Amino acid sequence: MSADQPRTNPIGVFDSGIGGLTVVHALTKRLPNENIVYFGDTARVPYGPKSPQVIREYTAQDTAFLTGNNVKFIVVACNTVSSVALDIVTKHSHVPVVGMIAPAAVAAVAASRNKRIGIIGTAATIASGAYEHAVHRADPSALLLAKACPLFVPLVEEGMLEHHATELIAREYLFPLKGHKIDTLILGCTHYPLLRKAIEKVFDDSITLIDTGEAAAVEVERMLEERDLKNPSTMRGNIQFFVSDETPKFAEIGERFLGQTLGKVRTVRLAD
Ligand code: DGL
Repeated sequence: MSADQPRTNPIGVFDSGIGGLTVVHALTKRLPNENIVYFGDTARVPYGPKSPQVIREYTAQDTAFLTGNNVKFIVVACNTVSSVALDIVTKHSHVPVVGMIAPAAVAAVAASRNKRIGIIGTAATIASGAYEHAVHRADPSALLLAKACPLFVPLVEEGMLEHHATELIAREYLFPLKGHKIDTLILGCTHYPLLRKAIEKVFDDSITLIDTGEAAAVEVERMLEERDLKNPSTMRGNIQFFVSDETPKFAEIGERFLGQTLGKVRTVRLAD
């Protein structure tokens, strides 16, 4: 093994499905020379409506898959997993781990002027209270207003990004937050960056949206530098894609999330 072998090892990224490709997109923009191994649990998505106990079981298996692929770092792209099972990832791996919650909370507190911050996510993410905890740790005086938006995930997967039905549902979900005069909104789910336009419309553009993947990518870069784990290569990194079920629309939806074609995708079965 060469001296810098660990630095050329891939970053492992996992999600409940393919939504985590928005996080891969943010990582490749910030860290283009890093190799990435991506796992999406497409056979068992969505995690958002499931119980914390089941999400934690799945998370242990997802983590084992990545650690078996020689990763030097793990990014938990799924906000739901980051909310209810980040400790499981840390417990089952021997490499640094970054989830979506803390970096986004810090970014939101820094961006907000009136300290009235909104958070939207899946049912499990909102029920966990993880964002409240992280925002209050970053700024005890900040007010956090939370709203679960369970219909957003299927709308994005159907490609209805700017459909009037999506705008209607966005208004229904987000009007209460608007009424509380939030100036910053955390998009606490892998899928929501694709709804940026529909969400901005509700707030008449007078809102700062925090993309959790982008906030996490800043933290990943900082931690790689701190640990001297950055890939010294000057070549563009490669991405290996693994899913637990190659569903018929996988490639089409995946490209929407990643912003480019996926190439080869391999299917793996995780042990129960
Ligand atoms: N990836 C999930 C998240 O970011 C959304 C999809 C799901 O419910 O599994 O919370």
